[in-house]
Amino acid sequence: MELKNDILLRTLRGEATERKPIWLMRQAGRILPEYRATRERAKNFIGLVTNPELAAEVTVQPVDILGVDAAIIFSDILVIPEAMGLPYQMIESKGPYFPQTIHTAEDVARMQVVEAEVSLKYVVDAIKITKQMLAGRVPLIGFAGAPWTIFSYMVEGSGSKTFSKAKAMLYQNPDLAYALLEKITLSTIDYLKAQIRAGADVVQLFDSWAGILSPEAYSTFATPFIQKICEAITEVPMIVFAKGAFFAMEDLGKLPCTALGLDWNMSPATVRAQVGKDKILQGNLDPCMLYAPDDVLVQGVKNMLHAFGDRHIVNLGHGLYPDIDANKVKLMIQTVLEN
Ligand code: CP3
Repeated sequence: MELKNDILLRTLRGEATERKPIWLMRQAGRILPEYRATRERAKNFIGLVTNPELAAEVTVQPVDILGVDAAIIFSDILVIPEAMGLPYQMIESKGPYFPQTIHTAEDVARMQVVEAEVSLKYVVDAIKITKQMLAGRVPLIGFAGAPWTIFSYMVEGSGSKTFSKAKAMLYQNPDLAYALLEKITLSTIDYLKAQIRAGADVVQLFDSWAGILSPEAYSTFATPFIQKICEAITEVPMIVFAKGAFFAMEDLGKLPCTALGLDWNMSPATVRAQVGKDKILQGNLDPCMLYAPDDVLVQGVKNMLHAFGDRHIVNLGHGLYPDIDANKVKLMIQTVLEN
């Protein structure tokens, strides 16, 4: 189906556009009362993620309410560990928790390489329903966690300030770490391809915990697996967002992906110089700027637009926080549409 608003896809093709496209990480979420209402009907977060009709409904909400230039399928990166054989829980106001974690070669051997059409059929179905509901209004972004970030949760069992258990495995037993990273990588490729077959027009990889690795560890345990995924996904443009990986941007610039995400610690000019002129850059407003008075926010958005220049997809430097006022988000979007 031909898209009515294809400004994101034209930007990803490197075409000059009349303005910049905008979407926001975590645009579907607790900032919208409509999201909270749908989540009630699903009972809890995992109930929402695994219910294709309700997941599609919250995916489309920010398109209707905020007017963003793309939808991102409502799911979580943790569906991959779950499908590999490691179920998770989402603990209210605390975050993810895995009752079992990976320690030994036997644990890694037990993990399945995912067949997404079977074990993640609920995501495939949510994408198909979302595409029907969008009816070509905007493109749909699919996503997955990058292998290092998924590995961190599978070994650590929850979020952590240091991820010291996950990092310890890299240094104590690199072969075991590699074996698990390899299984995650194969699973992720199958999963992204299933999302694309179901209708995802773009895919994004989230390496949320990139910033806790040293440059050397990142180039050993993270980039090579992202590279494999980029090489395998040739059907649609891919965006790689490695949060905190300012030290790796030069290497990431060499990946066969279309776009790179920047967090708010990264300077657009510096990253542009590191990665060359071809890559499309995405980001990077500090989400906390959305707590600022209107005039400060508008100026902050304009400064960001200017700092990136062309080949830019407007976004935040990380996801929206639940207590951000949706009116501030609308003002950010309006500022981008007018500039
Ligand atoms: O709108 C979108 O961006 C799509 C939906 C999306 C969610 N999670 C929904 C969600 C996406 C892209 C993710 C990815 C995700 N999940 C990442 C990578 C992006 C990032 O933030 O770095 C990570 C690390 C996770 C793991 C995860 N899921 C955490 C740490 C948490 C708890 C955080 C919190 O705010 O409570 C989640 C839960 C989660 N995933 C929520 C949403 C909307 C909040 C849960 C709720 O509704 O109660």
